[in-house]
Amino acid sequence: MAENIEITSGSKAEKYQRLYPQIKALLEGENDLIANMANVCSALKYGMDFFWVGFYLVKNEELVLGPFQEPIACTRIDKGKGVCGKSWELNEVIVVDDVNQFPGHISCSSLSKSEIVLPVYNFKQEMIGVLDVDSDAYSSFDKIDETYLAQIIQLLK
Ligand code: SME
Repeated sequence: MAENIEITSGSKAEKYQRLYPQIKALLEGENDLIANMANVCSALKYGMDFFWVGFYLVKNEELVLGPFQEPIACTRIDKGKGVCGKSWELNEVIVVDDVNQFPGHISCSSLSKSEIVLPVYNFKQEMIGVLDVDSDAYSSFDKIDETYLAQIIQLLK
């Protein structure tokens, strides 16, 4: 296992392209979901310099905070609540350019300005949680993030 994630410059897509094989290698041979989610958070946090990266996991009809990197966060989110709960309810990726404009947004940090939330599935295609990535700048996320983050969470299956 590599000791460090190689952090590169370049466009967002180029950074993801260099990061993806490193994350793939990091997860290879390990099948513990929590361990792998923890390393995905660290790799994305340091590889892409996001403000907050974390997973919320479906437990008893709630989302419960899972592995994450950086500031402390709210622990439980109901279905349909906030961006994470909405993504779970709709089973859809949600991109929020300005969190202040998203009805019911749950603010864990006033520094978070935009976010993307993607459903996470197990090998049976059951939704087991969401990946939430926050930025301290507005409009940070687009189709490039959606594409590469979806590929990265596929590695968790
Ligand atoms: N903003 C999220 C809550 C989680 S934090 O951003 C870490 C939401 O509205 O669901």
